[in-house]
Amino acid sequence: MVTEADHENHKHLDGINLDYFVQVQNNLKAEMKDTLILMDKEIKSLDLPEELEKILMEFSFEVINIGCSKAKVLRLSNIEQTFYLKINKVDSIFDLEKEKTILEWLSKKLEVPEVIYFGKKNEMAFLLISEIQGKVSHFVGSDAEKRKNIRILAEGLRKIHSVPIVSCPIDNSPDKLMQMAKDRLEKGNIDTSQFDTRWSDISPEELLKEVTRIKPDEYDLVFSHGDYCLPNILIKEGNLSGFVDWSWGGINDRYFDLAAVIWSIGYNYGEEWVKYFFEDYGIENFDWNRLKFFQILNEFFQQ
Ligand SMILES: Nc1ncnc2c1ncn2[C@@H]1O[C@H](COP(=O)(O)OP(=O)(O)OP(=O)(O)O)[C@@H](O)[C@H]1O
Ligand SMILES: [Mg+2]
Repeated sequence: MVTEADHENHKHLDGINLDYFVQVQNNLKAEMKDTLILMDKEIKSLDLPEELEKILMEFSFEVINIGCSKAKVLRLSNIEQTFYLKINKVDSIFDLEKEKTILEWLSKKLEVPEVIYFGKKNEMAFLLISEIQGKVSHFVGSDAEKRKNIRILAEGLRKIHSVPIVSCPIDNSPDKLMQMAKDRLEKGNIDTSQFDTRWSDISPEELLKEVTRIKPDEYDLVFSHGDYCLPNILIKEGNLSGFVDWSWGGINDRYFDLAAVIWSIGYNYGEEWVKYFFEDYGIENFDWNRLKFFQILNEFFQQ
């Protein structure tokens, strides 16, 4: 957003197109920070619910380009505070209402953002949350930092998996997910272009048969993050500062998260780093067949 202060600071440039100047400056900042600052008319086009618009009156808006889902994520700040706003379709599989529910349930149990506002307008859902400070765990400067981060990631996941599931409001247990996968397939909602190269030439129908064939006899149900990949874990001054991105949080099998973090460590740090995660999380006898089941199951929930 171009603020009064921006105009004030650049008064001496009268005669040239100030908006253009500020936009160029903003674009430069954006390239540096993986963000893009929104202009007033772009903020209007977000079509925020009235109550939310009131809360955010004096805030500047930046689009965050980290993360790989379809949710739009904005960083909002004024002189006093910073919030994050997530916007997505109400019927998205990255369900912001579920994220709100799980965040409220997790408050005081884990280091997670506080829910400031949740609302819907014109088939869109809006979730405003507080900031978790720190830097995303895939931004690393050295191998030593990678090694330290892996320890933090492992301890973080252990902590999440030890939250008691008794009163957990969201059930993402694998049998339920299998049923959801079938329903999505019947409705033609599976995006095969996102499939891993290992099964990119297999039809989703065949893949569903395969996942049914290799289904484990029993599950190891825990409280699960649901998308435990490196951009969702924040680290500040060498310590865990918190976990974000909870739209798939709930009761699930331990290997659902292990599949995500193993993939993410390999992708961001390199395959050779995965063994340290096994060490730090404390996994002996890793069950690769079980991992494959969850890797395939996950393919039915890409968007
Ligand atoms: N509360 C927060 N505090 C600090 N950073 C945040 C917060 N929420 C989001 N972020 C930043 O924005 C990025 C994207 O947000 P998030 O992970 O919630 O969404 P996503 O991965 O795009 O979407 P989805 O929920 O649909 O999977 C995060 O990786 C993180 O860098
Ligand atoms: Mg994310």
